[in-house]
Amino acid sequence: LNVGVIFGGESVEHEISIITALQMIENMNRDFYNPVPIYISKDNKFYYHERMFNLDFFKDLKQVKTESRRVGIKKENKTHILYREWGPFQKKVADLDLVFPIVHGTYCEDGTLAGYLELLNIPYVGSNVLSSANCQNKLMMKHILKSHDLPVVDFMSITDHEWFDNSEQIIDECSKLDFPLIVKPASLGSSVGVSKSNTKEELKDAIETALIYDSQIVVEKAITDLIELNCSVLGDYSKQEASKVERVLQTDEILSYDDKYMRGSKEGSKGMASVSRVLPADIDESLTKQVQELAMKTFAIMGNSGVVRIDFLYDEPSKSLFVNEVNTIPGSLSYYLWEASGVTYESLINRLIKLGLE
Ligand code: DAL
Ligand code: MG
Repeated sequence: LNVGVIFGGESVEHEISIITALQMIENMNRDFYNPVPIYISKDNKFYYHERMFNLDFFKDLKQVKTESRRVGIKKENKTHILYREWGPFQKKVADLDLVFPIVHGTYCEDGTLAGYLELLNIPYVGSNVLSSANCQNKLMMKHILKSHDLPVVDFMSITDHEWFDNSEQIIDECSKLDFPLIVKPASLGSSVGVSKSNTKEELKDAIETALIYDSQIVVEKAITDLIELNCSVLGDYSKQEASKVERVLQTDEILSYDDKYMRGSKEGSKGMASVSRVLPADIDESLTKQVQELAMKTFAIMGNSGVVRIDFLYDEPSKSLFVNEVNTIPGSLSYYLWEASGVTYESLINRLIKLGLE
């Protein structure tokens, strides 16, 4: 089976995507699967070359660049124009039996790459266009979960137009949610443009910062006595399985992009490994069950497929659990949560491929 692995991409999570893809390729059973790596550069060009089988290729990207055929998509004034040279790539893609889209964040995890693969009629692993788009957008996700009575933290949405017309009124309304407040761009990942505010002045700055990154932003109540719990779910619309739960440490402040990915990542890291965690989480069995059940429900309601990691916030004083985020292309595909649950990385990949072909 020829399995395309598309990775890289123009999002801020470019590097973490490379790690996720290389780990995955390393753990694929080569007796059954022939991995075909396809790299998307930061300027959104697609590269395919046999040399990419060499897992060290990234060290020498320049060389790969000059030797590969440049094919794919060019971004020009925000309009995507298909390159004439895309013929060989399309032919190559046509030989693929399945694709693993492993580009985190913008222009993939938001459903765009899933849409591209639908267009080319290639089966792929993971959530479909609508499900990916809804999960990537924090507002859509909250609205959908709320309409199904699933718990999300109190929030407000603001668009750039509303802000420029009515900023004073918006500050007053947001303040009613109670400080401290967290402000986030609606559709970016990895904490980019996210900040916490304790006063109206700070809130104004936080909103203006977030609006640099997105025309739509979310203001939500910050949970102060916070426990952050993550759980991975594997399956499709008909059946779901939850992994063990992990507790992420050092959560009183927002994890920056550097905290999440850069610290210690030079030592050939395990991707998300720079975030310290307790796995399985040191919480009551009943809370673990609650997280796992809510994770599976969220997966089903959001229409997910493949493997996702769902991030929860637990407010200790009120003993309330909230869904915070659904990562449809989780860092390292959450393999560490599955390993802790008795599923090897290799069998996780086998199961994902099976789901993708169904
Ligand atoms: N978006 C990153 C990769 C994650 O949360 O897993
Ligand atoms: Mg995340």
